[in-house]
Amino acid sequence: MIRALIAALALAAAFAAPAALAADPVNGEKLHQDCLQCHGTKIYLPPRRKINSVKALRKEVERWNDSYNPKMKKSEIDDLVAYLDRDFYKFGKP
Ligand code: HEC
Repeated sequence: MIRALIAALALAAAFAAPAALAADPVNGEKLHQDCLQCHGTKIYLPPRRKINSVKALRKEVERWNDSYNPKMKKSEIDDLVAYLDRDFYKFGKP
């Protein structure tokens, strides 16, 4: 019984850990340096911006990550989305 409980707790902790690592907009801002070669940040603001949801924003960041080079990890994409949302889009959590 105790063993099962310990195993369950260990499992829960293993799953909880990645979720606890919140996206880091400060790191996102650093990663974004690579994106500035083509456009500044004005494109993220009205009247130029086209993106209108966090979901679309994430897709766009993934698209640029694919077609351009940085090959970011998923957590880095999270960071970049968090940075763009915090400073420009301001959608808040999905
Ligand atoms: C090779 C040039 C280039 C690079 C590098 C680039 N972008 Fe872009 N990006 C563009 C162009 C051009 C557009 C406008 C496309 C349009 O108007 O449909 C755009 C549009 C966007 C938009 C949509 C803005 C909006 O709200 O309409 C986002 C978000 C974006 N880029 C993010 C990024 C990120 C993040 C990176 C770095 C990983 C990046 N871009 C790197 C050229 C680039």
